Amino acid sequence: MKFFIDTANLAHIKEANDLGILDGVTTNPSLMAKEGIKGQDNILKHYADICALVDGDVSAEVLSTDFSSMVEEGKKLAAIHKNIVVKVPMIKDGIKAIKWFTDNGIRTNCTLVFSAGQAILAAKAGASYVSPFIGRVDDSNWDGIQLIEQINHIYSIQGFDTQILAASIRNALHIVRSAEAGAHVCTCPLDSILGLLKHPLTDIGLAKFLEDAKKM
Ligand code: G3P
Repeated sequence: MKFFIDTANLAHIKEANDLGILDGVTTNPSLMAKEGIKGQDNILKHYADICALVDGDVSAEVLSTDFSSMVEEGKKLAAIHKNIVVKVPMIKDGIKAIKWFTDNGIRTNCTLVFSAGQAILAAKAGASYVSPFIGRVDDSNWDGIQLIEQINHIYSIQGFDTQILAASIRNALHIVRSAEAGAHVCTCPLDSILGLLKHPLTDIGLAKFLEDAKKM
């Protein structure tokens, strides 16, 4: 399973990348706004800065919602760097745009996916990645992990190439359960990635080893 970090914060991206386990980055308009990135030039520059930090796929989301504007925007984003993946919302014009990008050699990440039916449409349009938002599914009293399992089952039996990118990850357990459910990628905030490190018995065991090391 690939690990992406879900942030536009350059310090967090650098910290995760320095661990040596980072395969890519996802962003969205909310994450970009949180970092105070405004204006087209700054937005494009920020994506270029992220691409310079990480040697892996970087999802950059279109802000428009009609087919022609999404295509124009996506072309500009894709031109920033070969690792840019154009992130497109799961709406009717979004599916048309994903098909256009697929036919024109531009990779895509279909975002805001909450059902298996939406995941089938994204795969049919040729999306490189599909992003089920498992935390938000859980928030609405459905089961986000079950959604990953269902999409994985459908893609496997139908032979779709689209990779399942588990998004809206809220904790380390989401990462473990997404891996079990067959997600190809998990995109996580830095805290959730670091959460995987934690176990109280590791801390207790290390403290004892260090204490005993003084007697060696
Ligand atoms: O990748 C999608 C993600 O950023 C959404 O996460 O926590 O806002 O549901 P969240």
